[in-house]
Amino acid sequence: MKNNQSSKNGFISGIGFILAAAGSAVGLGNLWAFPYKTSANGGAAFVLVYIICVALVGSIAMISEIYLGKRAQANPVTAYKKIKRPLGFIGIVVILIPTLITCYYCVLGGWTLRYAVNSFQSIPSANNAVTFAPFVSNVFEPLFYTVIFLILAALIIMGGIKDGIEKSSKILMPALFIILIFIVIYCLCLGDGVKGGLEFYLKPDFSALGFSGIIAAMGQAFFSLSLGMGAMIAYGSYTGENIKVGKSAVMICIFDTLVAFLAGLAIFPAISALSPENLGANAQGPGLIYQILPKVFDKMGGIGQVLSFAFFSMVIIAALTSVISILEVSVQFISQKFKTNRKKTTLIMAIVCGLCSIPITWSVGGAYGGKIVVFGFDLLTFLDEIANTVLMPVGAFFACFSIGWLIDKKPTVNPMKTLNALKNDGLDLGAFSKIFVIMVKFVTPLLILLVEIMGVIGKLQSYGNIYWSIIITSLLLIAICVIVFFAFFYKKDCGTNADEIN
Ligand code: PHE
Repeated sequence: MKNNQSSKNGFISGIGFILAAAGSAVGLGNLWAFPYKTSANGGAAFVLVYIICVALVGSIAMISEIYLGKRAQANPVTAYKKIKRPLGFIGIVVILIPTLITCYYCVLGGWTLRYAVNSFQSIPSANNAVTFAPFVSNVFEPLFYTVIFLILAALIIMGGIKDGIEKSSKILMPALFIILIFIVIYCLCLGDGVKGGLEFYLKPDFSALGFSGIIAAMGQAFFSLSLGMGAMIAYGSYTGENIKVGKSAVMICIFDTLVAFLAGLAIFPAISALSPENLGANAQGPGLIYQILPKVFDKMGGIGQVLSFAFFSMVIIAALTSVISILEVSVQFISQKFKTNRKKTTLIMAIVCGLCSIPITWSVGGAYGGKIVVFGFDLLTFLDEIANTVLMPVGAFFACFSIGWLIDKKPTVNPMKTLNALKNDGLDLGAFSKIFVIMVKFVTPLLILLVEIMGVIGKLQSYGNIYWSIIITSLLLIAICVIVFFAFFYKKDCGTNADEIN
């Protein structure tokens, strides 16, 4: 196996890789979704189940994806082709999906940017009717911030892996963590009122958890760890011999979980101390950070403006380092397959995603009288469901399945044989090798299938028949990926990191 690419365009240090991958993992999923999902699904009971999911399923899939990239030193299509040529179509799926996510994730990034910018005006005021709704439903303002956000991401990617992504992560991730710690301490010191928030967030309630809570925890773990999206395959491909896959994956998982947990520890105590009337059902939905938190900051007076700026800057960092990783997936593939220059490719992909984000911004914000909907969904929800409920488990499943069953030329149910095959291939996890093999072969793929099936059934129940539009669109997308792959990429070389020109 050739591992000499890292010197050309790859991560130079282990810590650089860990911070970049953690940057991908830590995003809106941690600072926004995790806290409200925890409070809605049984508090500490959810946290416990979540940690088990990360340990048993997430970390195993993470190792599989990083290693898939590392062994191939190439984009996801080539990485899967190197496992078994026909599987290359999965590579196309895990390039298409993050590209779709980029289109809506940068809309949310744009919102965050606007909230940070407006922190020092009295605009994030107590009244949502004059702040949130008019802003998001405006035709131009959210677009303006979305474009700026996308430009920031594109500039970092244009710098390449070591000078763009690695360098920025080494600054941004520690900054994020310091801001977070500061905010947590401040919020926990807001007086007696914080107790109610801690209880709301963490009081263990196993009856509120239920089976659906467990499935939610598992889905959240995948999303939060950026799995099934080609991102970890792409980043993994830029690692050389000096980077240990197992250790890195564990660090990324721990960091990601810690940040998610701490975010809730700041948010809920602050709400309960300053705005307890908002600690109900509203705090359990997406309105949490864009609608309720501004009210809380508003009640803090002058310091609230500083805190609001710090908080939203932290969310921007989190969202930015995540968007970089998903935009990178398509940039990597296109520049390797078509031997195009990285800067130009990034520019083109940013323009494509920017254009796609226009209808998404209008749809989710309710511009034009809220008329931009598909099959009854706003476009953001539509794409998010396709990407995260239906297709993400597919990507994660194939990563584990490939490592667990297809590295060995002669597929076998015998874990010891697979263990040897993996060692010969270059993956050695020391004392954890045996557990890893059993998990990656049997347990993790089965749990992923469970997430897929139960996740879709649950959504069908809650949304009703309109959810079929999401399932059918997802299947059509897979079909398109299969056709495109076999028509254009199956027989042809799809490039490796060595083919990149800068
Ligand atoms: N993990 C990111 C978050 O928690 C989102 C993301 C998903 C990023 C998939 C990359 C790939 O917000």
